[in-house]
Order: sequence, then structure tokens, then C-alpha cells
Amino acid sequence: MSPAREPIGVIGTGYVGLVTAAGFAELGSEVWCVDIDAAKIERLRRGEVPIYEPGLEQLLQRNTARLHYSTDLADALEHARMLFVAVGTPPTHSGDADLSAVHAVVSAIPASEDHALVMKSTVPCGTGASLQRVFGEQGKGGLGYVSCPEFLKEASAVEDFLHPDRVVVGDNGEWAGEAVLELYAPLNAPLVRTDIASA
Ligand SMILES: NC(=O)c1ccc[n+]([C@@H]2O[C@H](COP(=O)([O-])OP(=O)(O)OC[C@H]3O[C@@H](n4cnc5c(N)ncnc54)[C@H](O)[C@@H]3O)[C@@H](O)[C@H]2O)c1
Repeated sequence: MSPAREPIGVIGTGYVGLVTAAGFAELGSEVWCVDIDAAKIERLRRGEVPIYEPGLEQLLQRNTARLHYSTDLADALEHARMLFVAVGTPPTHSGDADLSAVHAVVSAIPASEDHALVMKSTVPCGTGASLQRVFGEQGKGGLGYVSCPEFLKEASAVEDFLHPDRVVVGDNGEWAGEAVLELYAPLNAPLVRTDIASA
């Protein structure tokens, strides 16, 4: 029997979050999905899939016992030490990314030595360092941070998750980077480990 896979949390259940959740559930992890959109969480609990992606509905159905949906971040924090952040970062009028949803997640997460944010949302270079400064200012310096940029394309997102060209993991050389690599290992994709800014 294969060893138990690490449980994870996924914050934001849009294209990236839902595909990431379904993909890691398929690889054997229990996945706690959190979204502020209560109607979306209700639909997911009923087994409805709010977006169309080839293969996604089947993947979610097949792994329904491993997938948990909530509007409460505490549910993910209780069960998982790694929280994959997949909230939206839409462009503003000036063309910069609007990071308000990312900052809302950072503010909501309590101080912990045992948790790490794994950034899937597209954020500008330098965001990792500035978020780690914010952790420090908010007395949460013990939180881990890993950059794990997402390369999936809509319409082939499930396929892209299961057969990536490469997986890039940027971290400070602490436990969380190792743990993220471990999660992706069964995909047998080239794994590129680097620092946060390079990722
Ligand atoms: N869609 C793509 O093809 C794609 C590909 C690569 C990278 N990305 C990046 O991934 C990120 C997510 O993109 P997406 O297309 O999945 O977005 P999306 O808009 O489909 O989903 C974002 C989800 O986050 C939820 N959310 C917002 N604030 C939240 C909060 N504070 N707590 C919990 N949930 C919250 C929203 O309700 C929504 O369900 C973006 O940064 C995007 O640029 C997207």
C-alpha cells in the first residue's frame, strides 16, 4: 500500500483552485477547499461543478470522499499545514495585479509555526518578499512561504495539472518547499527548485 499522502488546503475554488484540489485529491491527498463565495461552496457540496473544464467533473466525482468544502479558513488550517492560495489577482486600470484578495488571505491566517502559504495565484516578482515582511509586521514570522507558479491553460487545465512540462517551486529551503515537491513527485515531471524571487 502506498504511504498516506499529505493533506492540503486550497484557498479559492476558481479554475486554478478547483483543478489543483481535484488533481491532488486524485494523487491521494485529503483536500480542504475554502472560498468566500458561499453560493459556490454550496454548489460544490451538492456535487455541482461551477466551471467547465474537460475531465474536471469526473475527477471531482471520483475523489468526492477526499474533497471537503468550506467558507471557513479554520477548517483548512485544522487539517492541513500547506495552504495553496489560488485567489484571483485581476489587472487594475494601471495594469498592475490587484493583490487585495491575496492580502485578505494573509490577514485572515493566524500566526503559526506549522503552516505555509503556497502561492499559486499570479503575483509580481517581489511579492513573496513583501508578503513575508507583512507576516513579520503581523507577528506571524513563523509562517512558511512557497512560490509555486501555475502554468495551466483553461480548456486543458486538468491535463496540464496531471502532465506538467515542469513544476517550479521557489522557497527559502525550509520544510514547506520540500513538502510541496513531495506532493508533486508522483507526476514524474521535471521539478525545478529555486528561490522565491526566481520562481
Ligand atoms: N485561469 C487560468 O487560466 C490561470 C492560469 C494560470 C494562473 N492563473 C492565476 O491563478 C489565480 C486564480 O485564477 P482563477 O482563474 O482560478 O481565478 P477565479 O476568479 O476563477 O477564482 C478565484 C476564486 O477565489 C475566491 N476568493 C477571492 N478572495 C478570496 C478569499 N479571500 N478567500 C477565499 N477565496 C477567495 C473567489 O471567490 C473565486 O472563487 C490568479 O492569480 C490567476 O492570474 C490563472
